[in-house]
Amino acid sequence: MTPSTHWIVGPGALGRLIALRLAERVPVRLVGRRPLPARQTLVSPEGKTREQSLAMARTDALPMEVPAVVHLTTKAHAAEAAHATLAAQLPSGVPLVLWQNGFACQPALTERHDGPVLCATTTEGAHVQADDRVIHAGHGHTFLGALDGSNADLARALARTLTDAGLPAEAVDDIRIRLWRKLAVNAAINPLVARFTIRNGQLRDRPFRPMVERSINEVAAILAAEGVTPPGGSGLEGWRELVWQVIEATAANRASMLQDVLAGRVTEHEAILAPLLAAASRHQLSAPCLARHLQDLRLRTQKLAEPPTTC
Ligand code: PAF
Repeated sequence: MTPSTHWIVGPGALGRLIALRLAERVPVRLVGRRPLPARQTLVSPEGKTREQSLAMARTDALPMEVPAVVHLTTKAHAAEAAHATLAAQLPSGVPLVLWQNGFACQPALTERHDGPVLCATTTEGAHVQADDRVIHAGHGHTFLGALDGSNADLARALARTLTDAGLPAEAVDDIRIRLWRKLAVNAAINPLVARFTIRNGQLRDRPFRPMVERSINEVAAILAAEGVTPPGGSGLEGWRELVWQVIEATAANRASMLQDVLAGRVTEHEAILAPLLAAASRHQLSAPCLARHLQDLRLRTQKLAEPPTTC
């Protein structure tokens, strides 16, 4: 029998959005470390509510089923460990889709996975309201492709399935550039809103606006050296336009990094800032603002891991 079930591994907001949408078209199984209610509610950006039952599995007790595709939707810092657990139990050849932000786990997992690997980057917005309720906050667009441009037919087929399920998607042959573009936007916005506990739109005001500009200058210089172009293709102005457009469009949002900080979770700084700073050092560029953000967020993560002091 041909495998037909899409496994979604990592039942955060994006994972559950993908699962609930795909379940309208193909068999789906949501895989996570802890049990969740099988009956899940999705609230659409238009406010429509839809309840659906999803097949579930725990990562440590996977069923004897060969998935058609595995969508890895964990946070970036959890992706490699989640993949190691899965890989031990999967036959070779199962396609893997990496939905992580940043540019950290993608090259390593592309190398390590015993089967085709696609990367995805999306502007779909979602957040979790309860263990059984996901809010699809805003419609977006998804790009899919392999880092080396291979498996184009698979990327096209998956893009079609996602599009038919209500998540518009497109297969591309330059996913590496698109991952770096999203990383650039995340690097300019997320550390600042997380540090000052503000919504994205507040970055337009003083004293934050010059801070955003400084981050954009550093990001633009690093990416120019890496050969990554902004969507308009015109250097610093292109990056400024992209970042300020996103800030405008998401003015009312609390960015994912701020949500992580508020919830006491580890942030995705290693996937977003560390690859940029590694590129800066390769090209002998200095990036003091980005370096300071990374240092602050690393310090915060260390503190999260420390046991509370008792006296
Ligand atoms: O990380 C996020 O929340 C989003 O990618 C973005 C674009 C910064 C908007 O909040």
